[in-house]
Amino acid sequence: MSWSATGNAWSPIAQGGVLEEPTITQIAEKARKTPPQVALRRHIQRGAIVFPKSVTPSRMKENFGLFDFGLDPGDMDAISALDRGEDGRTGPNPDTFARVPPG
Ligand SMILES: NC(=O)c1ccc[n+]([C@@H]2O[C@H](COP(=O)([O-])OP(=O)(O)OC[C@H]3O[C@@H](n4cnc5c(N)ncnc54)[C@H](OP(=O)(O)O)[C@@H]3O)[C@@H](O)[C@H]2O)c1
Repeated sequence: MSWSATGNAWSPIAQGGVLEEPTITQIAEKARKTPPQVALRRHIQRGAIVFPKSVTPSRMKENFGLFDFGLDPGDMDAISALDRGEDGRTGPNPDTFARVPPG
């Protein structure tokens, strides 16, 4: 997953990668939620903005199902511990990405 301390979360479900991440699947099972819902919930609990992409109506509906539960501090810490730094990045680094072409 690619996420920053604040702001927005790019590829917020790691382009599907969270589906097979054991830490997230275990938390999802405990919360009776799905892995994408857990990952998205974690982002919004940190104050990030999320734009999960899906062309699948059932997944779009699923991805909105994150406002009726919460992750406790232990869950939040366990997911944060998955951070692989630059090795886990799925896109450009938003801290260094040149958003505006030089004029
Ligand atoms: N400007 C940039 O440089 C930049 C960089 C990265 C991302 N983004 C944007 O950020 C948005 C999201 O990023 P992303 O597409 O890279 O990654 P993402 O949202 O983490 O993952 C999208 C993938 O996950 C699948 N998916 C979505 N919901 C799911 C669910 N509930 N269960 C299982 N699979 C699910 C989608 O499949 P289906 O569509 O087949 O359902 C798609 O293959 C996109 O709009 C992207 O354009 C922009």
